[in-house]
Formats: sequence, structure tokens, C-alpha cells
Amino acid sequence: MSEYEKVQNALQAEPKCWLITGVAGFIGSNLLETLLKLNQTVVGLDNFATGHQYNLDKVRALVDAEQWSRFTFHELDIRKPHDCAKAVEGVDYVLHQAALGSVPRSINDPFSTNETNSTGFLNMLIAARDAKVKRFVYAASSSTYGDHPGLPKKEDLIGKPLSPYAVTKYVNELYADVFARTYGMQTIGLRYFNVFGPRQDPKGAYAAVIPRWIEELYRGTPCRINGDGETSRDFCFIDNTVQMNLLAATTTKDEAVNQVYNVAVGCRATLNQLYAEIRDRLAARFDRISGMDPVYDDFRPGDVRHSLADISKAADLLGYLPTHTLQQGLDVTTDWFIDGFETADRLSTA
Ligand SMILES: NC(=O)c1ccc[n+]([C@@H]2O[C@H](COP(=O)([O-])OP(=O)(O)OC[C@H]3O[C@@H](n4cnc5c(N)ncnc54)[C@H](O)[C@@H]3O)[C@@H](O)[C@H]2O)c1
Repeated sequence: MSEYEKVQNALQAEPKCWLITGVAGFIGSNLLETLLKLNQTVVGLDNFATGHQYNLDKVRALVDAEQWSRFTFHELDIRKPHDCAKAVEGVDYVLHQAALGSVPRSINDPFSTNETNSTGFLNMLIAARDAKVKRFVYAASSSTYGDHPGLPKKEDLIGKPLSPYAVTKYVNELYADVFARTYGMQTIGLRYFNVFGPRQDPKGAYAAVIPRWIEELYRGTPCRINGDGETSRDFCFIDNTVQMNLLAATTTKDEAVNQVYNVAVGCRATLNQLYAEIRDRLAARFDRISGMDPVYDDFRPGDVRHSLADISKAADLLGYLPTHTLQQGLDVTTDWFIDGFETADRLSTA
């Protein structure tokens, strides 16, 4: 039995109370779905800055009424210390996801990114310390590797941040480390590498590449690639990310706590390869898409050129075993988005 299966069995046998910040977002709502299906009690916090009520509605449709009754939602803001204290009352574990994502957003508006990602993070950390939660697991980022040229990325070799967003995510790690040393808190940082999957937002100027391209191809809009397309990433399907959150929150190994971990698959694909993978999946369903080529733009400031994770630390200390490769994740994700677009199109023409 895998470590993850053991953790899921243990949680079902002895349910816990979890706080998910950013619960109406992509990763938060997927954590919510998994935890409710495991019959956990969940408190969720979100201010809908980039998250959506419809993500919560979709989770509601995927769980039974009794599981849904174990969920309490607070429309609150992590920039307010009082809101953080209110949400964290009585919880065992915090899964802190709330943040303003996107490197370009942070370059356009570093102040707002800092307010939510640094000050909001500190507010949550203080609230979790005061409420004496068992563990504080938080969304860190692969952007922390910055300009370090080494590949694959190992947790203890980082470079200088390349964007305000990366600064805030590194500050999170520094604060978590200091709170562990100073107040004896248990924290674990998860450096997510390009996560993708159902419920990721395809819309808006700061949308992530996979959902955006799926929607653009489906609608017949040419996709844009920043740079020559040889930029590479370690794309990580959401189920792998959810697994890491649960392993991190529940590990009983002392040496595994107060650490940061890469959350990825350990394989990389270039943007050109990714484009072909997505286009081929859509073309298998719609002939009109097979001939669509991308348009190449300038490189984007702040972007790291190559990214590939070494996941051996997570495997050794937490028993992490990714369940989905990029290709397996894309199979699920493209089907999920296309089914959603087709349903929405049918409803709008009915
Ligand atoms: N998706 C990725 O590839 C990726 C990669 C690295 C790190 N991360 C980190 O993972 C976390 C989740 O990202 P996501 O992809 O689900 O993004 P998302 O935008 O879908 O979710 C973030 C959620 O946080 C909420 N939020 C923002 N500001 C808030 C505030 N002040 N108070 C309360 N809620 C607030 C948003 O409304 C949203 O629901 C973030 O911390 C992000 O930085 C994501």
C-alpha cells in the first residue's frame, strides 16, 4: 500500500478539521473535494479575488449532502489579522493556498502581490501559531529557484528571485522557518511547479498556459507562445499536488517537518511539446483543430528559462509517489474542459 493510501485510510478512520485558505481557487477547491470525500471537516476562507463561487458549487455537486454539511465557508480576507484568527479557530491543520499568483501580475502590481502574499501570509502564520494548530502547510513556489542555473532543482540550491512574486514566496519560506525556530511551530512549504488540472481558471490576463490554450484551441483562437517555445517546465497534475498536501500535513516523521519540498513529477516538457500534446488531444475530438499553429511572441520578463524538479526529497521523507504524468494529467484535464465548454455552449443556445 502506498504512503498516500495509508494516510487516506487513517484520515477516514479518524477525521480531522482542516482550514483551506484560497478554497474557491483552483488548488484550494481540489483540496476541498478530496478532503470532503474523505469525510473530513473543512473550514474554507476566500475573498474571491481570483477564486469563484462556481468552484465551490462544482465541489458541492461532487460530494454527498452529509460530506458537504461538514464544510463551513467564510468570505474573509487574509490581509486582515482578525479574519485569519476567526477562520483558524479549532482547526488541526492549515493548508494555506490564498495568494495572488502570476509573475506578470506581480511585475505590474508588486504592492498588491506583497500585501496578500507576504503580509497576508504573516497574518495567517500568526493566527495559526496563536490557535496552536498541529501543522501549517503552505503553497510555496518553484519561482524561488530564480536565476540558479542548476537542473534538476534541489531544495537547498536556490538563486536570486526574478520577480516580485518570487520574492513573496521566498519570504514565506523565511517566515515559516523563523516561526518554527522561534515559536516551535510545525510548518511545511510546498514548492509547486506549474500545477494544472480541472477548475484552473482559463480566463483573464494572468491565466495559466494549459487551461488558456485548451480554451483558445477549442474556440479557434491562435495560441501565443512567449519566446521560441523551447522554455521548459515540470508540469504537475493537481492530484499529485493534493497528495503532497495530505502527506505533508500528516507525516509523523520529525525529520520531515519544518522543511520545504518540490512538488512536481520530475520530467519536463518544452512549451512547443506541451502545445503539440494539447492540440493533438483536441484534434482527436475536433478535426478543425489539427492544423492550428501557435503564434510566437517575445520572451516574458521574469520567466525562468528551464524548470525541472528533483522530487527525491519528497519521495524519501514523505513517501510521495506521483500518480499522474503530464500526459495522464492532460488526458483528464482536456476532457474536463471540453465537456464543460460543450455543456456551457449547449445551455447558451438552448
Ligand atoms: N497553480 C500553480 O501552478 C502554482 C504554482 C506555484 C505556486 N502556486 C501557489 O498555489 C496557491 C494556489 O494557487 P492557485 O493556482 O489555486 O490560484 P487561484 O488564484 O486559483 O487561487 C488562489 C485563491 O486565493 C484567494 N485569495 C487571493 N487573495 C486573497 C485574500 N487576500 N484573502 C483570501 N483569499 C484570497 C483567491 O480568491 C483564490 O481563490 C497560491 O499560493 C499560488 O501562489 C500555484
